[in-house]
Amino acid sequence: MSKQTTVITPDQLNAQFDYCDKIAAYWQNQNITPAAYVETYGCQQNEADSEKIRGYLAQCGYRIIREAEGADVVVMNTCAIREHAEQRVFGNLGALTHTKRRHPAQKIFLCGCMAGETKVSDRIKKSYPYVDGVFSTHHLWQFPEILWNVLSKGKRQFYVEDEAGSIAEGIPQVRDHTLKAWVSIMYGCNNFCTYCIVPYVRGRERSRRKEDILAECREVIAGGAREITLLGQNVNSYGKDLDEQIDFADLLAEIAELEGDFLIRFMTSHPKDASEKLFDTMAKYPKIAKQLHLPFQSGSSRVLKAMNRHYDRETYLKKVNYAKSVMPDLVLTSDVIVGFPGETEEEFEETISLIQAVHYDSLFTFIFSPRTGTPAASMDDPTPKEEKSRRFDKLCAVQNEISVQIHESYVGKTLRCLVDGKDKDQLTARTEGGRLVRFSGCDSLIGTYQNLKITGCTTWSLTGQMQDAECSVQN
Ligand code: SAH
Ligand code: SF4
Ligand code: F3S
Repeated sequence: MSKQTTVITPDQLNAQFDYCDKIAAYWQNQNITPAAYVETYGCQQNEADSEKIRGYLAQCGYRIIREAEGADVVVMNTCAIREHAEQRVFGNLGALTHTKRRHPAQKIFLCGCMAGETKVSDRIKKSYPYVDGVFSTHHLWQFPEILWNVLSKGKRQFYVEDEAGSIAEGIPQVRDHTLKAWVSIMYGCNNFCTYCIVPYVRGRERSRRKEDILAECREVIAGGAREITLLGQNVNSYGKDLDEQIDFADLLAEIAELEGDFLIRFMTSHPKDASEKLFDTMAKYPKIAKQLHLPFQSGSSRVLKAMNRHYDRETYLKKVNYAKSVMPDLVLTSDVIVGFPGETEEEFEETISLIQAVHYDSLFTFIFSPRTGTPAASMDDPTPKEEKSRRFDKLCAVQNEISVQIHESYVGKTLRCLVDGKDKDQLTARTEGGRLVRFSGCDSLIGTYQNLKITGCTTWSLTGQMQDAECSVQN
């Protein structure tokens, strides 16, 4: 890979802001306040990208609405991680023919990870004539230009050339939440796990400069953020491409030293690069949540090798044990794939035994989904679908039992939680480890930290009671 990371210059970005002005004037001249809808699929990286798309749209004069009906612009920010994710997008794209029929001036865009796949952009070109523009993640910074071209030329736009990726600082953002902020610290991935499409659609690893990250953290803290989640496909390789001598643990420490009452989370950590220094740093700073998402993918060293993960079962377990030894209250979560090509029953059982050994708080479980263009898609895969489903069900059952056991062990404890919203008639809060707690209280508590006594649990959440009597009943 000899492609270079490009830094988008202030002049290039200003040219985009000029397009924003043109678009705003286009609508003002017609006396219309246009509306836009952005639909997000996939991971937090896409959530963060959608905040930028909304930021650009707001700068172009669009009001952001919550449905496609009646929107002048619809943007589908897509995920390519599994077949099922893509099918959902194509299904929902089909439904947009109806909203566009009722509002023919509607402009429809598809972006995100699927837009980085040639097979997808070709299919849109051929079979989805009502989609006005397609742009891959590498071209997100050019969205105003793409939108202006569609509005002014009335021609479909495809910005999908394959690039290593760039870094653009200064794109405006309309954030989804004030309490919780995503802050990307790096983009792309160099790991090429054999099952994964991400490196092909998001380009090579590139780290943002520390100053830019710290400035964004200060800004969101000043704006009321109580939780900052640092994002990257493999945050542990942060800094490797920078001239400055800095690693992820150093960055974490600097953020943890910023003023304010907030917690830092991060995802995702690749086990091969997770260091003792990282765990020691987490243990040292109260502002770093004692929560670790450390995807292991498989409990079998042979399968891990075939996945190109660069660690084996023993090294993984050693790292987890070290992390637990320096953070006894650590909340551990992970990703796991069942049915990787050639996975035997014994190898699957190694995954089960690893789960039992580690005792994760929760797991994100997936059945292997072949992605065109990745090495695993052409590996021999003799295991029938039904057998993979059986393994998947067993995995979930084993994990659910563990989750319940861990949740039960919370009962009776009092935990400091951030009250983050309301669901039906109960307030919701998150423990430092990210566990969901439901309790009764008044709405004015949203946005505050509260000590909650855990009184009960289910597989997925905890129930709690306020410790400080004031305002403990629902209003
Ligand atoms: N960068 C992160 C993972 C991002 S993708 C990491 O390496 O930890 C999120 C999860 O989706 C992965 O951890 C993996 O478990 C799952 N996944 C990725 N590609 C997949 C595929 N082709 N089939 C099934 N699951 C997959
Ligand atoms: Fe995909 Fe592996 Fe990169 Fe994660 S580390 S995004 S699984 S290639
Ligand atoms: Fe999906 Fe892209 Fe994230 S493929 S999981 S949205 S990086």
